[in-house]
Amino acid sequence: MALYSEIVMDHFKNPRNQGKIEDADGVGKVGNVQCGDLMWFYIKVRDGVIEDIKWETYGCAAAIAVSSIVSEMVKGKEVEEAVELTNQEILEGLGNLPTPKIHCSLLGVDALHEAIYDYLSKNKMEIPEKLEKNHERQKKILDKIGDKD
Ligand code: FES
Repeated sequence: MALYSEIVMDHFKNPRNQGKIEDADGVGKVGNVQCGDLMWFYIKVRDGVIEDIKWETYGCAAAIAVSSIVSEMVKGKEVEEAVELTNQEILEGLGNLPTPKIHCSLLGVDALHEAIYDYLSKNKMEIPEKLEKNHERQKKILDKIGDKD
């Protein structure tokens, strides 16, 4: 049995929305302590809608596929709707991931949430509690990895 689904391989080989938005309205950066992989998400928001999203990922094939599908799943969605994206939806969208790779999918939700957190805090908008908690968690993880920029 193949390690990755065809959908994962497609997103890995043909990543969607890869890159950086220089004048992003929100930037989220997360990492994983075990593997040291890093992921950035950049969002442009207009009238409460994520009109553009890009990402940069230094990580495994699964992390790249996750970044790609997350960007597709939330592009054009309202920020409030994007906050509700779950890890389960990402896994379903990818046709699942092997169990040892499930943690890679968590980076996608966390990085998206961090980008939205950044957008909301810069605009002095109310921040949902789960984004606050995620932000505190991510700061500690990045401190452990030793990557503070
Ligand atoms: S092995 Fe680190 S994100 Fe996949």
